[in-house]
Amino acid sequence: MGTADFIVVANRLPVDRSGTEEGEEQWRPSPGGLVTALNPVMRQADGAWVGWPGQADLEVEPFEFDGMQLVPVALSAEDVELYYEGFSNDTIWPLYHDVIAAPRYRREWWQAYVRVNRRFAEAAADAAAEGATVWVQDYQLQLVPRMLRELRPDLVIGYFHHIPFPAYGLYSQLPWRRQVLEGLLGADVIGFQRVADASNFARAVRRQLRYDTKASGIRVPTEDGGARLALAKAFPISIDAEEYIRLAQRPDIVARAAEIRESLGNPKKVLLGVDRLDYTKGIRHRMKAFGELLQDGRLAVEDVTMVQVASPSRERVAAYVHLRDEIEQTVGRINGDFDTMDHTAIRYLHQAFPREEMVALYLAADVMLVTALRDGMNLVAKEYVASRVDNRGVLVLSEFAGAADELGTALRINPHDIEGVKDAIVRAVEMPAAEQGRRMRSLRKKVRDHDVSDWSSEFLEALDAVRRSRS
Ligand code: G6P
Repeated sequence: MGTADFIVVANRLPVDRSGTEEGEEQWRPSPGGLVTALNPVMRQADGAWVGWPGQADLEVEPFEFDGMQLVPVALSAEDVELYYEGFSNDTIWPLYHDVIAAPRYRREWWQAYVRVNRRFAEAAADAAAEGATVWVQDYQLQLVPRMLRELRPDLVIGYFHHIPFPAYGLYSQLPWRRQVLEGLLGADVIGFQRVADASNFARAVRRQLRYDTKASGIRVPTEDGGARLALAKAFPISIDAEEYIRLAQRPDIVARAAEIRESLGNPKKVLLGVDRLDYTKGIRHRMKAFGELLQDGRLAVEDVTMVQVASPSRERVAAYVHLRDEIEQTVGRINGDFDTMDHTAIRYLHQAFPREEMVALYLAADVMLVTALRDGMNLVAKEYVASRVDNRGVLVLSEFAGAADELGTALRINPHDIEGVKDAIVRAVEMPAAEQGRRMRSLRKKVRDHDVSDWSSEFLEALDAVRRSRS
């Protein structure tokens, strides 16, 4: 039994190690929005964060960072290969994103997933005070809620699923489909991005486990022959909107946006894509559409440049290696065919940038292209909108991204329909300022009215209701 009243359990700790200086560990906060959202809760309660420090074979003792207790869970090189690259990112990730890439089902990976999930559950159980609240994050840790409940029935347990939950017809491919559902149902509250994800989950539970579901409630049988109620519902995640608004008004960032446009040769319009280099993001689809528009002469390279930031991700998983080759070949072909000495069709950056530079890019972009084939939420769409304090710019948004449920005045596209994507790009490029303003104002209101602190407080309020109903 530990001392923390509130614990977050996530695959990654909210810090990165930036090398060692004279034997001392150097940690800096990693950019994710989750930690910003949870920081106030962490400080108020006696908070701890359980997670992997991000490098294989790195064993670190628990330490204090920025007012929270960090509890590192070590992963060996083999754990990284089987649990993280294998089961998490080569089985669950493609399966849950509608098999855009083929999931691989390997028993050895599953065994590692069980083993590593248990290690996370044990670390959380050791850190938690009597009756503490534990909030488990994402698909890498789906078995933790149940393991934790078995170790510590006194805890209130939440789980949030950041990625889609697939339709039953796909989910049922998973050889361990029952164990995963039972793992998740160890939580008192199971949160999803979209209403559709929560209903896919409830349907899988009915079909596989034959449990009763009613509205958002699921009756989970208990060992004593009774039942407890688990809540499965949508809590769409958001961003720290005020932080983006603040950055977008900083004079140096505004100046940087102008500098970016200038360095691109001052095109009339800048199109922007910002993604982890992932096959779910539809990067090739958007490049294909853009290349055809140049080919057809509907757009000219002197007038329009596309900037694509593709940050490196999961670089040892085969599907990602293959995708990178495909994208880089596509960029090379399009640029080779259309570039002039002064203008480039696609400025491609396989790099990650600090938040300040991202906001400058958002301000420099007339059109933001979010063409995901499947995406839990897509926070880039929300970041772009929040940054546009000038109420200009057009968001082109895939209906397969969770953000489409909220961002109704974006230009909605089906990324598989290349003609439709082309038309939307042309419409965005030609959109009059007044229409941009109308749409952007309404998008901005959505994001400001529901930011990441609303998301976390709504989820934690649902967990609090569980606590109250128990006492
Ligand atoms: C998605 C997942 C997160 C994950 C992130 C980066 O947003 O939902 O759980 O942390 O991608 O991926 P990585 O594999 O680098 O942690």
